[in-house]
Amino acid sequence: MAHIIDGKAIAKEIREEIKAEVEALEKVGLKPGLAVVIVGEDPASQIYVGSKEKACKAAGILSEVYKLPESAEQSELLELVEKLNKREDIHGILVQLPLPKHMDSEAVIEAIDPSKDVDAFSPVNVGRIMIGQHSLAPCTPAGIIELIKRSGVSISGKRCVVIGRSNIVGKPVAMLLLHESGTVTICHSRTANLQSVTQEADILIAAIGKPKYVTADMVKPGACVIDVGVNRLPDGKVCGDVDFDSVSQVAGYITPVPGGVGPMTISMLLKNTVAAAKDAKV
Ligand code: GUN
Repeated sequence: MAHIIDGKAIAKEIREEIKAEVEALEKVGLKPGLAVVIVGEDPASQIYVGSKEKACKAAGILSEVYKLPESAEQSELLELVEKLNKREDIHGILVQLPLPKHMDSEAVIEAIDPSKDVDAFSPVNVGRIMIGQHSLAPCTPAGIIELIKRSGVSISGKRCVVIGRSNIVGKPVAMLLLHESGTVTICHSRTANLQSVTQEADILIAAIGKPKYVTADMVKPGACVIDVGVNRLPDGKVCGDVDFDSVSQVAGYITPVPGGVGPMTISMLLKNTVAAAKDAKV
């Protein structure tokens, strides 16, 4: 039976570290600030934004939430971003996605000052990640690396296989694993003989978006399996991209869903906000 990686506990540990760092920064006159912008009434987005605000406050980070109506013009959102770009007390800006259909998300993300882009979604930050010169790493991929490291699993020299090639998870996590000296393969829906590739993985990252897609026969005994999936089943339950019951019999380490990668994302957002504040100070 695999060791179950407790994302909730690790995320909490990190939030406590951040809180202590924020207290130390306040003593030297620096209070990190995050602005979160939400457009429209998407219920999932409202829950995420609420959690981000709560986590900021608990860590001592200044948190401002801006709510624009679904009908807002893109120019209105861009004006708000510009205003936040100029604010010295706001070090991080996050525009919650998805945006309403009449808006161009790429243009909005590009309008955020790259030094305040705590999602690290902008082309400038994506480029910096590629060359390993980033102080802001995208939250979910950074959370995955922290989970692996804090579980005592070393990445250097290991075969790392990522299933999924999205800009938000697959591609950036592959790059972060490479920076940790992993030997990285990215697989996707067109990969021939996927099982033969995944069976070689010492570290397997599942970010496909298909419930219970990764089964025990795809996993090398003892592997570290990180499940990034969040899928809702017809009965309303949430499950990951990994068939936890079978894979946990074969793997050495495994993250559950919920309670694995999910809680780490907000901890990494707080970490990025603190990093952006420190970078702004120097
Ligand atoms: N919507 C769902 N996840 C995210 C995220 O990490 N960042 C932003 N900006 N929007 C999201």
